[in-house]
Amino acid sequence: KKVWENNNCIGCHTLLGEGAYFAPELGNVYKRFGNSTEAIKAFIRSRPENGVPGRRSMPQFHLTDQELEGIAQFLKYSSEINTANWPPNIQG
Ligand code: HEC
Repeated sequence: KKVWENNNCIGCHTLLGEGAYFAPELGNVYKRFGNSTEAIKAFIRSRPENGVPGRRSMPQFHLTDQELEGIAQFLKYSSEINTANWPPNIQG
């Protein structure tokens, strides 16, 4: 949660509906990425420095391995909260 807050992920993303509508909902990203913390880490690790030019995209955050593991576990935890099946589709 500290990694989430310190990097202002919510400035672009929503988490269970709270946040900004610039980027995908992340409350169910763990499920969207095939129940894989490794896939989440790989995505965040592989972002280009300033995002993809000309396209709405995510920048590089230079997170340490420990921060990456922390944010991936936080997003896994978030996906396991009982939200009565909200959001209603896997896209978020
Ligand atoms: C400047 C805006 C911005 C910030 C800040 C941001 N992101 Fe993103 N993020 C995006 C955009 C846009 C996408 C859509 C995919 C892309 O980059 O093309 C995305 C995609 C993602 C995805 C994949 C979602 C999917 O369903 O494909 C994950 C996971 C993610 N971000 C995690 C994070 C985390 C964790 C943080 C904070 C450390 C963060 N983001 C901060 C803009 C942002």
